[in-house]
Amino acid sequence: MPRLSIVIPTYNERENLPILLERLEKTLHNIDFETIVVDDDSPDRTWELARELARTKYPWLRVIRRVGERGLASAVIRGFSEARGEYVAVMDADLQHPPEVLPQLLKTALEEKADIVIASRYVRGGGVEGWSRLRLLISKTATLIAYLLLPEARRTSDPMSGFFLVKRKLLDKCINSLKPRGYKILLEILVKCKPDKIVDVPYVFRRRFAGKSKLGFRTTLDYIIHVLELNQYRVLKNAVVGASGLIVLWSTLYLLSDILNVDPLLAYPAAIEASIINNFFWNDKLVFRGRGRQKSLCRRLVEYHGAVALGAATNYATFTLLYTLFHIDKYIASLVGVLAGFTLNYLASEHGVWKP
Ligand code: GDD
Ligand code: MN
Repeated sequence: MPRLSIVIPTYNERENLPILLERLEKTLHNIDFETIVVDDDSPDRTWELARELARTKYPWLRVIRRVGERGLASAVIRGFSEARGEYVAVMDADLQHPPEVLPQLLKTALEEKADIVIASRYVRGGGVEGWSRLRLLISKTATLIAYLLLPEARRTSDPMSGFFLVKRKLLDKCINSLKPRGYKILLEILVKCKPDKIVDVPYVFRRRFAGKSKLGFRTTLDYIIHVLELNQYRVLKNAVVGASGLIVLWSTLYLLSDILNVDPLLAYPAAIEASIINNFFWNDKLVFRGRGRQKSLCRRLVEYHGAVALGAATNYATFTLLYTLFHIDKYIASLVGVLAGFTLNYLASEHGVWKP
């Protein structure tokens, strides 16, 4: 069993691969390693060249040519299933991920007993080479989306990284639950594999050496769907629960202010409280089912109140402002109030009360 398996997905990387392999051999000369190139039947016949090199030059190289299948994530998963090493690394073939970082990843994994070591662009010492501001903004926005919707992603500074190392034992536990959707395989692992220790190691993402990127607009859309799927649509379910809360809020407001003639400014806090209890119940039973169970029900309920306090205050302030100052109908004012409070409440639920 080799110490390290390196999975390299390729599609039209004929010019880059020989240089990468040469640098790998030089860098890893005192490590027992194997390399698995997973090529999706590249039109430029990368697989053919790789096989040739495996036969003549590099005994540590294995080549898988997938015919009739396409996709970065599925190629990586295929590589995982073939890998025999104690640790499995993933990297791109286009020299944007410097192979010289690999020994550092392995060393960190061994020394720190980490389940996952991530080569990160966004820690001290890391960076990107030759990116426009727009490209950087897109990358940071993608990271922010992951941070907002997936608590698991917040365990690394670079959840978008395609350059990382995982302990084989961890993969064995979860490989069957990995879906080859999208191309952010690391996100998939972070959410599904429940790793113990994760460590970031800085690196500089270089310019592509030859050829061009395969990721384009389509991948951006795929990414959003992928994140929503990993989020298990909790953000949307939470919105549905919020809508049910609005019905409870309106009913309470109607009962107290229109039937019992209570001042709307007093009735409104009671209506908010009724909706909070309603929302808590549905969130706990459905949206975040199974999460936060190390805490008692009572504790979760109290925490939920703490978590939504800011949202409730925002809601109440918005309501009061619209209702008393602008004389807007109280049901409309309450709708705006609820919408204003919603985002805050969702984030507090996802990352606080029902944190995984
Ligand atoms: N087998 C296979 N099948 N390989 C693929 C496919 C595919 O459909 N699409 C891309 N690849 C290979 C490429 O040949 C390359 O080795 C690697 O996957 C990355 O593809 P690029 O097209 O170079 O992607 P990128 O540079 O835009 O994005 C990379 O960097 C990002 C930032 O770190 C990827 O690694 C992303 O996952 C990463 O987030
Ligand atoms: Mn690339």
